[in-house]
Amino acid sequence: MKILNVKSIQSQLILYFTIAIIIPAIITSIVGVKIINDQVIQQAENKVLSDLNSAREVYQNSIQHITNITRMIAVRSLIIKALENRDINFLKQDFNKILKREKLDILTILDENGNVICRGSNPNIFGDNLQSNLIIKNCIIKKQIISGTVVSSIEEIRKDSPELAERAIMKIIPTPKAISRTDTVETSGMFLKAAVPIFNESNKFIGILLGGVLINRNYEIVDKIKKLMYEQATYKGKELSTATIFLKDLRISTNVKNEDGSRAIATQVSEDVYRTVIEKGERWIGDAFVVNTWYIGAYEPISDINGQIVGILYVGTLKLPFDHLLRNSLLTFLGIAFIGIIIVVIVSFRLSKKISAPLKKLEIIADELANGNYNLDFQCNGPIEIEHLAGSFKNMAMELQKEKSKLEEWASTLEKKVQERTDEIKKIHSQLFRSEKLASLGKLAAGVAHEINNPLTGILTNASLMLEDLDQADPKREDVEIIVKETIRCREIVKRLLDFAKQTQPQKKLTNINTSIENIILLIRNQASFRNIQIEKNLDPNIPEIMVDPDQIQQVFINIIINAAEAMNKGGKLSIETKLDKNSNYITIIFKDTGPGIPDELKEKIFDPFFTTKESGTGLGLSISHGIIEQHGGTIDLDSKANEGTTFIINLPIKH
Ligand SMILES: Nc1ncnc2c1ncn2[C@@H]1O[C@H](COP(=O)(O)OP(=O)(O)OP(=O)(O)O)[C@@H](O)[C@H]1O
Ligand SMILES: [Mg+2]
Repeated sequence: MKILNVKSIQSQLILYFTIAIIIPAIITSIVGVKIINDQVIQQAENKVLSDLNSAREVYQNSIQHITNITRMIAVRSLIIKALENRDINFLKQDFNKILKREKLDILTILDENGNVICRGSNPNIFGDNLQSNLIIKNCIIKKQIISGTVVSSIEEIRKDSPELAERAIMKIIPTPKAISRTDTVETSGMFLKAAVPIFNESNKFIGILLGGVLINRNYEIVDKIKKLMYEQATYKGKELSTATIFLKDLRISTNVKNEDGSRAIATQVSEDVYRTVIEKGERWIGDAFVVNTWYIGAYEPISDINGQIVGILYVGTLKLPFDHLLRNSLLTFLGIAFIGIIIVVIVSFRLSKKISAPLKKLEIIADELANGNYNLDFQCNGPIEIEHLAGSFKNMAMELQKEKSKLEEWASTLEKKVQERTDEIKKIHSQLFRSEKLASLGKLAAGVAHEINNPLTGILTNASLMLEDLDQADPKREDVEIIVKETIRCREIVKRLLDFAKQTQPQKKLTNINTSIENIILLIRNQASFRNIQIEKNLDPNIPEIMVDPDQIQQVFINIIINAAEAMNKGGKLSIETKLDKNSNYITIIFKDTGPGIPDELKEKIFDPFFTTKESGTGLGLSISHGIIEQHGGTIDLDSKANEGTTFIINLPIKH
């Protein structure tokens, strides 16, 4: 997978979008969970408080129930009579039945001074005085029903019933976080008792009936409370609600269960609760770790008939459902946040791709432009700004393309022009060079020719005279003849040199070029050197007469024709053509031979003075011809290849 560059648009967009969603998600989660937590806790505490009220109600109802039963027994005439008659046997039998029927633990009848007449629960012990007992004392004094919670010592309970005493005794199970107690066994018993005064028919106070129930190990009240709190008993295997009655700090009646499922009797309340409820007499609400799990608990003090705090009434509701509610809402918040983040990442990924893909394309296009490729046709889809940018790129590429082709055009014309100019300059330069050379040579030749001409004339005259004087058979005659012949040749050379040197202004007159050529052909045709040469004429009769020096022009033609003949000494064909050029500015004269041609390396030199490949040549013929044609404002050109013959083309202007 390609690792994202941290500086790329893609990664930055994803980062910022993620931050933008994570922060509100965290804040919402925290605030939301806090609100839910507060509400859940509040709700749980409200529930537990209302449960505590119900519990108190149940507790009070139990006292009331005992009071009612005791009162109903106390008003029975049989009982009143039996008390007056001290009919203990009747009382014994009757109380025995009532105890069983009404589920009472104590039913004791006393006389008006507090002496025990009959103990229903233990008929063998009687006659003792219970005036020291607060409930009895109050009843005797006030002669009205006294009921409530009473804590009795083991001795008292034993008198009431040894079995009851057994039920009351509890071996304290040391509990963590509880107050430390010096004793290891709790012997007191907590009773709900009602003392009802008995009046005879003449409404005389004759005694007291004391009814009571021992709460130690009696689970009726706590189970009734529990039933009221939740219909359903357990949540994930745990007791949903619990109720407990404490004697001081000790669980004497509870439906809190131990791990083994037995009731957690004889365990202690935590020290915090003890200090608040027992010592300060205040309510305590909060999280409580009860035996093995957390409950939201409410505790309130239980006071005896004297107003003394003797125990605690507790109800607790399992914290687990609330914890689960909290956890589920937190998970929901986090889940929403997580989904949000994923959506944001996907959206920002797609968005950034939408932006960065065309940008990347533009980058490639820019590279192409940089490499000189302006011929670009591309489509760039993306946000409007990038599309505009792509449009600008396209325009720029088009403009660059136009400029490039303009430049290329310019470059090629420039090259052509430079080439033309260079050629021109070269030509002018060589013309200049030749002119200068000709000028200096002309001066030199004129001087030399002048000096040589007179002695040559002398030599020729004398040699001719000598020849005339010699006999035909004279052996010297041959030598003199050579002298005469060579001297004539020298004079010819001198003459040509003088011609060359003179470069006189042409004496122009209207001349028919065709006629000039015809004359020359007539003149040379019968000469020995033309015997093997076929001459072909192709003269345009329409060419106009032009202003030239006919002698000079004829000399040029003769030079060229003689050169051709010399080149074709073993025979060949010479064709001579005249014509008008297509614009009628020039008369063109073409001499074409079938000789050996001129090699490339010599072409440059043939117009140079004294350049010759012939043994007896002067090398002045073409040089002079070139000078004459130039003076007539015309051109003389060569078209020749080795072994393919030679063509000379002369152009003479019609109007000069
Ligand atoms: N038609 C031709 N075919 C082949 N070579 C030629 C032709 N015309 C001229 N040339 C060459 O050009 C050279 C120069 O010619 P040019 O007429 O100037 O001098 P030349 O003929 O050598 O001497 P001269 O004219 O004095 O007899 C010649 O020597 C020859 O090599
Ligand atoms: Mg020649």
